Amino acid sequence: MPADVSNFRTSDEVAYDRTRLRQWREGRAGADGVSRRAMLGLLAAAGSAATVPLTAPARAVAAEPTIRKPLPPEWFVPRGTNAETRFEALRGTGRTTPNERFFVRNHTFTPVLDAGEWRLKVWGSGLRGRRGEDRPLEFGYDDLRRLPSTTRTAFVECAGNGRSFYASQQGETVTGTSWTLGAIGVARWRGVRLGDVLRRAGATRYALDVQPRGLDADFLTNGENLGRVRRPLPLAKALDDVLLAYEMNGEPLPADHGYPVRVVVPSWIGISSVKWVGDLEVSEEPLYSPWNTTLYRLFGPAHPPEGSAPLTRQTLKSAFEVASGATFPQGVRTRLHGRSWSGAGAVVKVEVSTDGGERWRRARLHDVPRADVWTRWSLDWRPGARGPATLLARATDARGRTQPAASVPNTQGYFFDAVVRHPVTVV
Ligand code: MTE
Repeated sequence: MPADVSNFRTSDEVAYDRTRLRQWREGRAGADGVSRRAMLGLLAAAGSAATVPLTAPARAVAAEPTIRKPLPPEWFVPRGTNAETRFEALRGTGRTTPNERFFVRNHTFTPVLDAGEWRLKVWGSGLRGRRGEDRPLEFGYDDLRRLPSTTRTAFVECAGNGRSFYASQQGETVTGTSWTLGAIGVARWRGVRLGDVLRRAGATRYALDVQPRGLDADFLTNGENLGRVRRPLPLAKALDDVLLAYEMNGEPLPADHGYPVRVVVPSWIGISSVKWVGDLEVSEEPLYSPWNTTLYRLFGPAHPPEGSAPLTRQTLKSAFEVASGATFPQGVRTRLHGRSWSGAGAVVKVEVSTDGGERWRRARLHDVPRADVWTRWSLDWRPGARGPATLLARATDARGRTQPAASVPNTQGYFFDAVVRHPVTVV
């Protein structure tokens, strides 16, 4: 093991990414499924080289429903293989999102798996005995359930949540699913600590990255087969607060949310929380996948040519539990409700404007602010003049970050954190 990385463990992707890239250049990092061109693109200083085509055959995709649970239109907006939760459907629900109303983000479709047959295969150079993929250590569902369990309440939120506002508020063209603000849910997750499983599997002190991989179908995009959904996690994060969850809000995980077992990575972007996890590669060498190279980094004029470091912690947002375009009677006092959240710490302050941003008032917080969970709030409003009105909510988190008036754009529309203009009509 090279001395420069033997004890290099950090959850700070910015620092780690430099080491990881250098190792790739020296032939000491795995980048299965990532084209050489994409890797060279990440190395700003590198020259061009021929692209290595991806030749893995696509697995047949059956005509399956992409999502299994019912998607009543009063709760969800369908978005391709995904379903966005309507914020107005959270009115009256508690701090956690009921499983039936939790948004779904599927690259392909929900696989139907049998917990009795399911195995978690743990393999890689970072395990004692350097186990190859053909010689993994296996855990069954019952094995996991026999390990000490732990419970954590945390949000899962897509990195592209709020993406549509880059276009509608800032006139920017970005690619990806046009989410409004409903690609988030909060749940009480129960499972085992990933760290406990890694220790039992014999992770060595040189292990650097852990890459969970889903059992759903290969993801095909723009004529390329990117293989199965997978994204490496630095070991320090994996050992910190990451769960292998088998319960969601007191029930076995629903099929659409990863049954029988998913990864839950608190405070990080949703793609880290791999559903239907089938194996964990534990590696002494840094790992790459399309989900931490060409995807889930910031590209565009405001970012380095090779893109930002892989995205980790979620940003800061607020949403009203009010339908877009809702009507309110003039002169009748009403109570506006909403929720604000941040990946950097608890939301401790929320200000609301009911006049398009001229005057701001402090909203009343309904929850004790907590990290990884949203804070619910409300504000009373007596609508004045008839006609269109714009509601705005602006959160501040425990780290002192406040939502800005505009977000710094990036080509894939991640991390929209600006205050959203919520249109309503006074009648
Ligand atoms: N895991 C697998 N195996 N396949 C996927 O398509 N989508 C990811 C992540 N884990 C995904 C996955 C993304 S982008 C998000 S935002 C979350 O799952 C969404 O979790 P949910 O569908 O339970 O809300």
